[in-house]
Amino acid sequence: MNKSEIITQISELKKKYRAVIVAHNYQIDEIQEMADMVGDSFALSKFCASVSEEMIVFCGVRFMAESAKILSPSKTVLLPEADAGCPMADMVTPEALLEARKKYPKAAVVCYVNSSVEVKAVSDICCTSSNAVSIVKKLPADEILFVPDQNLGSYIAEKVPEKKIHLWEGYCITHHRVTVEEVRKIREIHPDAVFLVHPECRPEVVKCADFAGSTKEIIEYATRSKEKKFIIGTEMGVLYKLKNSNQDKTFFLMSQGLICPNMKKTKLESVYNALLNGKHKIEIEESIRLKAAKSLEKMLKIA
Ligand code: 13P
Ligand code: SF4
Repeated sequence: MNKSEIITQISELKKKYRAVIVAHNYQIDEIQEMADMVGDSFALSKFCASVSEEMIVFCGVRFMAESAKILSPSKTVLLPEADAGCPMADMVTPEALLEARKKYPKAAVVCYVNSSVEVKAVSDICCTSSNAVSIVKKLPADEILFVPDQNLGSYIAEKVPEKKIHLWEGYCITHHRVTVEEVRKIREIHPDAVFLVHPECRPEVVKCADFAGSTKEIIEYATRSKEKKFIIGTEMGVLYKLKNSNQDKTFFLMSQGLICPNMKKTKLESVYNALLNGKHKIEIEESIRLKAAKSLEKMLKIA
């Protein structure tokens, strides 16, 4: 089948199964073009919790599809590529987190949504990159144990100096790789470009930026801005929306290594096969789901 035939088949299967297709801002262009909704982790969680369709096909990584299932247990949630995971989410286990809770008994445990269901189940509240600072500010606790992203945790610590933030040693393999030297070089080449960055980058990289935010916030910032040149400090998938909505502006990727291999696994064929064969269904044991739902629902309530 060629591309247009696959798209036609996908839309027929979508009608047949009353499905909605959602995609993260890091998905390949063809997926973003075909999806019903494209967004950052927070926007996608809220959207999935509100849709009336019986089936959600989640083009993203596993923790995102799991969040959709946690919030909508009666719906069928499909992850087209079963091994599209997030290595950062695997950098904290529920066992290690329970041990750390003993070390910091007064700390509220805030887990980044890039985490497993089991980790969410033993945390007090979840957050995404777009609401992490406001959630930590709003919590009554003065001490926070933040897992698993050390870089997002450092960013929160910088923005909320009145609280003690204990950091975990996790990181995103894609964002953490970028060094401050690389940033200096690209800023020297484009000295008049506005520099926008994701807080999963190293603190010294984030400090060089004009703005730090989630993928959606980066896209919105550049779209609202009157400036014409931007250095983009996050995964290259965001360039699709940035370029489409801002044809008079120029975007330079902070580093050519900003590619998340897991986000790139999902192709149009994967979505077609997912709908055709009902694969790969996200299944979560109910007692764990209920606990993880508390952390996610608390986030949706106070964010
Ligand atoms: P956003 O919430 O900003 O979309 O980020 C998710 C993510 O995995 C970033 O690497
Ligand atoms: Fe995980 Fe990083 Fe990929 Fe985001 S970009 S899904 S944090 S590995």
